[in-house]
Amino acid sequence: MTETRPPLRSYGRVKGRPVKPRQAGLLETLLPRLALDLGRPIDLDERETWLEIGFGGGEHLAEQAARHPDVRLLGAEPFVNGVASALRHIDERGLTNVGVHAGDARALLAALPDGALSRMFVLFPDPWPKTRHQKRRLMQADTVAELGRVLRPGGRLRFATDWRDYAAWTLERMLVAPAFRWAAEAADDWRTPPADHVTTRYETKRLGDTPPIWLDFERA
Ligand SMILES: C[S@@+](CC[C@H](N)C(=O)[O-])C[C@H]1O[C@@H](n2cnc3c(N)ncnc32)[C@H](O)[C@@H]1O
Repeated sequence: MTETRPPLRSYGRVKGRPVKPRQAGLLETLLPRLALDLGRPIDLDERETWLEIGFGGGEHLAEQAARHPDVRLLGAEPFVNGVASALRHIDERGLTNVGVHAGDARALLAALPDGALSRMFVLFPDPWPKTRHQKRRLMQADTVAELGRVLRPGGRLRFATDWRDYAAWTLERMLVAPAFRWAAEAADDWRTPPADHVTTRYETKRLGDTPPIWLDFERA
């Protein structure tokens, strides 16, 4: 029998400060309605489906969902306080096109059929800057292959980081992945926030060692 081990944790804590009562209420009432059931094939209708991995407080997820009411936005995030914050945004804005996996995105990816998604966002993933921790980075070769599997041809993946080394690490893996083509059109595209980008909470903290680096890829 082959044993499948869960991947190394690519995230830090799953719980922070106590969740505010209103958000705790949404975890009980709204989350069950939005939660994706990974135990069965994910129900994909005729709409385009986009996925944000590690949506943090959910500001980007909610804004993209509001801007694109015809698109189904899926989000994965294991940090409970982040999920609670995202639920508040979804509730306040009355969004009906969002699905949530309150856990590791890699489990959600595994439950998605080939070519299910037309866009993906990996914005400011945990950088794991110490060399001994780099094996925890999300953008490992096997995850990159999974991202390629679930993205439809012509689909786009946006990656952003404010850690120089993580940008280089990701580019290294994406450039050798047959599924992907770097979609840069000008030499300094990587310095410029894409026109449709929504600033994230982590991004504003400027915790990295470089201004944000933007890498957009197209599924070959
Ligand atoms: C540095 S934060 C950035 C959050 C948000 N994207 C932003 O820019 O504000 C990285 C987030 O990715 C989440 N994360 C890390 N590994 C993940 C995984 N395997 N699946 C889903 N989310 C993950 C973490 O819990 C954390 O909230």
